[in-house]
Amino acid sequence: MKLNNNKINMTFHHVGVAVKSISDTLPYYTGIFGFRQVSEIAAVPPQKVNVCFVEAPPGVLIELVEGAGANSPVEKVLEKAGSGPYHICYKVEDLDEAIAALRQEGCILFKRFELPAHGLRRFAFLLAPDRQLFELCESDKEKPREAAA
Ligand code: NI
Repeated sequence: MKLNNNKINMTFHHVGVAVKSISDTLPYYTGIFGFRQVSEIAAVPPQKVNVCFVEAPPGVLIELVEGAGANSPVEKVLEKAGSGPYHICYKVEDLDEAIAALRQEGCILFKRFELPAHGLRRFAFLLAPDRQLFELCESDKEKPREAAA
């Protein structure tokens, strides 16, 4: 789903859902809701979380996110708002360019990290002007380098 934004090339990627336990929640998504599990439960150490992707074909991805270890940011989300959706992730072609353009629109860069996962590598969390948390991700593919002059 390509977004109609001429300034930044953004594509909807997934909705992150905070859960207390992925293994407890997974059966609801794959059973009651009919999603298909498309990844193993994987650790994301820079974020102190574990994640698991489920998909409603074609291409609607939900990322189940549970805390892992002390002071996981998702524990704060669970305390404040309980289980449920808490971030939308957009895929961008160039993470640095997207962050720069979004900062000009009043967004605040909250955190960025690198981790090869699901064909992606670089990630960033930002706050929109209304403090809504959202995520950007970038393809793992090496960008073609410009030839040195
Ligand atoms: Ni996410």
